[in-house]
Amino acid sequence: MPVPLKVAVLISGRGSNLQALIDAFKGPDSPVRIVLVLSNKADALGLERAAKAGLKTEIIDHRAFATRDDFDIAMDREIRAAGAEFVALAGFMRLLTPQFVTTWQDRLINIHPALLPAFPGLDTHRRALNAGVRFHGATVHFVRHETDMGPIIAQAAVPVLSGDDESTLAARVLATEHKLYPLALRLIAEGRVRVEEERAIVSDEPAADGVLFNPALPQ
Ligand code: GRF
Repeated sequence: MPVPLKVAVLISGRGSNLQALIDAFKGPDSPVRIVLVLSNKADALGLERAAKAGLKTEIIDHRAFATRDDFDIAMDREIRAAGAEFVALAGFMRLLTPQFVTTWQDRLINIHPALLPAFPGLDTHRRALNAGVRFHGATVHFVRHETDMGPIIAQAAVPVLSGDDESTLAARVLATEHKLYPLALRLIAEGRVRVEEERAIVSDEPAADGVLFNPALPQ
């Protein structure tokens, strides 16, 4: 049996994407093993989810450190101590230092609630509604120095419907995130993703089928 990829998941809050990863990779034959759930917030709901699943958790409060560098060095130390070889950000709300990003280059991924490169940063659902886009979605990408940039591994698109508000649109996107993050991490753990010239290449990639129209074509 291939050796599972040992992953640290970094969170700051609710942890619904963490839960999706826990559920997707809980079997004994799983290609991924979550060896650490690290939060910068002691009250993150995701910590409870992790504990319930019997996972190792750590809290490193960023406020206890004088500089971002010191905080990232402390996280790096915990991640390595847990034996992690890969890091997945799942609603982790701190900017990472260039040093940390470089150290974990191509072993550090993030999920973002928009179809990057559209709408990096915060408030993506409100901005998508304001822009009037017909499709919105989620992206899993390798982390680079620029926030929410980096080689794109997988994306999921959802229609923006008339009558949507931020919360209905956010819920539709979040439901896809919970499928997309396990998909992307599985592809990585199976050794099927590589970066070439700053683009992520997926080997034996099943072709996505269908063309989406919004509004829909008449039947
Ligand atoms: C998700 O929308 C994710 O894309 C973004 O932060 C949110 C985290 O949600 N990076 P949760 O904590 O996983 O529920």
